[in-house]
Amino acid sequence: MANYTFPDGFLWGGATAANQVEGAYLEGGKGLTTVDLMPAGEKRGPVMKGYVPSLEPLEGEFYPSHEAIDFYHHYKSDIALFAEMGFKALRISIAWSRIFPTGEEEIPNEEGLRFYDSLFDELKKHDMEPVVTLAHFDVPVHLVEKYGSWRSREVVGLFEHYAKTVFQRYQDKVKYWVTFNEINMLLHLPFMGAGLTFQEGDNVKQIQYQAAHHQLVASALAVKACHEIIPDAQIGCMLAAGMFYPYTCDPADVKKAMDRDRESFFFIDVQARGYYPSYAKRFFKENNISLVTEPQDEEILAAHTADYLAMSYYSSRTTSTDPEITRKSTSGNVFGSVRNPYVKKSEWGWTIDPLGFRITINQLYDRYQKPIFVVENGLGAIDTPDENGNIEDDYRIEYLREHISAMGEAIEDGVPIIGYTSWAPIDMVSASSGEMKKRYGYIYVDRDNQGNGTKARSKKKSFDWYKKVIATNGQDLD
Ligand code: BG6
Repeated sequence: MANYTFPDGFLWGGATAANQVEGAYLEGGKGLTTVDLMPAGEKRGPVMKGYVPSLEPLEGEFYPSHEAIDFYHHYKSDIALFAEMGFKALRISIAWSRIFPTGEEEIPNEEGLRFYDSLFDELKKHDMEPVVTLAHFDVPVHLVEKYGSWRSREVVGLFEHYAKTVFQRYQDKVKYWVTFNEINMLLHLPFMGAGLTFQEGDNVKQIQYQAAHHQLVASALAVKACHEIIPDAQIGCMLAAGMFYPYTCDPADVKKAMDRDRESFFFIDVQARGYYPSYAKRFFKENNISLVTEPQDEEILAAHTADYLAMSYYSSRTTSTDPEITRKSTSGNVFGSVRNPYVKKSEWGWTIDPLGFRITINQLYDRYQKPIFVVENGLGAIDTPDENGNIEDDYRIEYLREHISAMGEAIEDGVPIIGYTSWAPIDMVSASSGEMKKRYGYIYVDRDNQGNGTKARSKKKSFDWYKKVIATNGQDLD
């Protein structure tokens, strides 16, 4: 038996994102969104980084989000499967362009609103708490075209209008909200994180931090609106978490690890504490960044901090000041990590470090003293059905077991954790690679990287395992 106890009412469940599951990319009045321009294959990388050849899908390219796993038409049966596992919560995101197809309409698209109404009703039927992200890697493409997306202040007001609209509409149905998914992704994959596009010669950092300022103000305004419209709701900010280890105890490596951590903490420092951190001033000066702000921004940021910190955790990261080490051992992680010889790695080169999960959770709680909600954690792996069509995903069970156990230890360390929604309850399109074969689910979806397959759902071995974890409130992880 475990030597930790998960609190009563702990929100066990799974996490999804509209752009990776829904499909139906132009159905129900939905407008084109940034992820609809991210092709599968080698061209995806430059697009995610902001080098976007066209603001319309191109002939001859395959765009995995257009159909995804067609959750738009399967949500009832998929939710029934989640309910069978005993989910207490499901994290979803609302596709902004289903509600405001161009992002600029005054009146929302009723068909889009009705889709999420029906989805939330389905969750309620199964006693599942919705956890809803307002922006998970999507911006209506029209806003990219007209305003350059988050680089423009205009988008703050448009996002606020969207946020208020969904708070009003779903005030009786949704009590857990998240503003921006992995807000720090803006620095690594700026088109994916914030719809930013670049031309040769652009001062990329200036554009990124200006966009970040706009998202931070928009996030605070969303917190304000949420508190006003749904006083009994909680709204969090979210970090793609995973601390940086120094490769050696050379103080220069330690300093570099601190700086790399601060790249990410920067966002949460503002969202959780309500003001720009002291180190930002020097960073801006040394990088020729000068933010255009409005007089009321300081007050907005200070007055409307997040209620909790939502986090994803897949890997820890490692950094070194030694160019030889960096050259020889960079792993596939978007955060540009050096390979850590003490931990295993996944088939995609992501380190597997459950103790790092416990350390990261503690580090974040020490820093912010806000409740934590683990809204993503899981293993992307290739699943191959055996001769009977079954998937014995023991590797996934092992990953999850070790991470849930590490989270239990963090709870014993004294960290208040609201819940755990693993990524992902069902196979879906991978955000970074666009592949289907990078699978995370307890439920297999018959679909391949090229979009072939019946989309039929079937249970993997981990399905019953997770069901038991939930039924025992995390006590039985065997
Ligand atoms: C997070 C994202 O970065 O990690 C998800 O919020 C994403 O959208 C998940 O799917 C796993 O990453 P990937 O690239 O393996 O899908």
